[in-house]
Amino acid sequence: DQMEPVTSQATRILVVSNRLPINFSLGDPTKGEPEFVLKPSSGGLVTGLRGCSLPFTWIGWLGFGTGSLPKDAQDRLRAVVQRDYSFIPVFFPDEIASDYYNVYSNQLLWPVFHYQKQNIFAANPKAWAAYQAANKAFAAVVGEQYRPGDLVWVHDYQLCLLPGYLREEHPTMTIGFFLHIPFPSSEVFRTVPQRREILDSLLDANLVGFHAFEFARHFCSSCQRLIMDAETTQNGILSRGRLTTVMTDPIGIDATKFLKLLEQDETKDHISQLLAEFDKKKIIVGVDRVDYTKGLVLKLLAIEQLLKSHPEMREKFVFLQVGVPSRQDVEEYQDLVREVNGLVGRINAEFGALHWMPIRYINRSVDQPYLAALYAVADACLVSSTRDGMNLVALEYVACQEGRYGALVLSEFAGAASSLPGSFIHNPWNIGETAEVLYNALIASEEERRLKHRRNFEIVTRTGTADRWANLFIEELGKAYAASSAILAE
Ligand code: ADP
Ligand code: F6P
Repeated sequence: DQMEPVTSQATRILVVSNRLPINFSLGDPTKGEPEFVLKPSSGGLVTGLRGCSLPFTWIGWLGFGTGSLPKDAQDRLRAVVQRDYSFIPVFFPDEIASDYYNVYSNQLLWPVFHYQKQNIFAANPKAWAAYQAANKAFAAVVGEQYRPGDLVWVHDYQLCLLPGYLREEHPTMTIGFFLHIPFPSSEVFRTVPQRREILDSLLDANLVGFHAFEFARHFCSSCQRLIMDAETTQNGILSRGRLTTVMTDPIGIDATKFLKLLEQDETKDHISQLLAEFDKKKIIVGVDRVDYTKGLVLKLLAIEQLLKSHPEMREKFVFLQVGVPSRQDVEEYQDLVREVNGLVGRINAEFGALHWMPIRYINRSVDQPYLAALYAVADACLVSSTRDGMNLVALEYVACQEGRYGALVLSEFAGAASSLPGSFIHNPWNIGETAEVLYNALIASEEERRLKHRRNFEIVTRTGTADRWANLFIEELGKAYAASSAILAE
């Protein structure tokens, strides 16, 4: 095959992810709402991509409900989304979506990639067929948009089969894939029933990127063990005459956006209110999707332990936890909501007084000014993920701490632990240790906190931003394409 040049005047970047940065719901005309209500969505992938200034065309799914709209309503929705946001929506039936997103993606791949047991009912043929069908629906929309020379950048575990489907139709397409979650040890990855189909498709990309070196290493050893002819070279994997470059490229955030938010009057008002309300108390903040990988239960138990082992801290601090509901159709997530709610109630009942509650739990999404204010007033941010690809909350907290030098109390199992050396690191499984690290962070001298903060702040605002992440990936994608072409030409 004749390879197309990777960069030309007309080169565009097509970004493909399951979730677009907006969520869809039907409007209520009796309340004067438009036909479709579109609101910002959250999650690390969306935050990272939204933080890039690189121009790209974003292709993705708008969520449940869109698949059952009549064809003419889908056309109107597509037109609104393209006109107001320039995004290209992908449609597939809600029944497919349920098996693709809730079951195969979030009851099989998500738990296994985070070292949790897969739901044994998730690997059923219907769920796998739906995962394939949804990935094919994405491939069809990419095919409609694609012009030779464009770069296609596929994101995350929901779209593992997309590189393969795209390659089948477009042998010369430049395809990059980035995984936003951990890639597990091959010992664990091998439990995925369709492990070979997944690896084979990923190897159809020219470049595969991960947040951390270990994830890239696990991917390479999985290929080595499961793909007959796979050979690990210095830059990646060689198999069936294809060269797939493998890279580590930790994602970042748009730190400038947070610095600007802190200057806004709305944010400043929130900050004054929060400081007035929690008058002279230490503030610990937590911000997570309510997901079992975030270690919320362990985090709450560590707060309880802090109250027990340091009774002098009672009434001296408050723990503000924001938990945005997530994947609520999935049983494991429903169970977690009940467990977290119960634990917050029990700890508050045991240690609270009429004038003080140790835990304030907000079970919803908060807007950006309020989020920035929460980060800014907090003396510590507690991240307890038992596994996490990166954890952008940790970076957002650092960005908002220029005045206070607050302590980032970070799980060693979050990808961010490899990139932020100025953190107070803990093993969330060791509840006593977490409580003690948190205590030490709260009483640390300003000098210690300032030195640690400086190291993290430099990375979050300069060397490790979302822009740097995306630019590096796109630059490597060009090189990877050229390298794979050279192999084919041999
Ligand atoms: P994940 O990708 O697993 O969701 P990250 O920590 O990388 O985890 O990213 C979460 C993103 O979602 C962050 O940008 C964070 O600000 C945002 N977020 C999480 N919880 C909330 C919330 N309750 N309200 C608003 N934004 C939230
Ligand atoms: O960042 C990892 C990730 O799984 C993204 O793929 C996803 O968009 C985000 O977390 C939030 O999850 P969801 O899209 O299922 O709400």
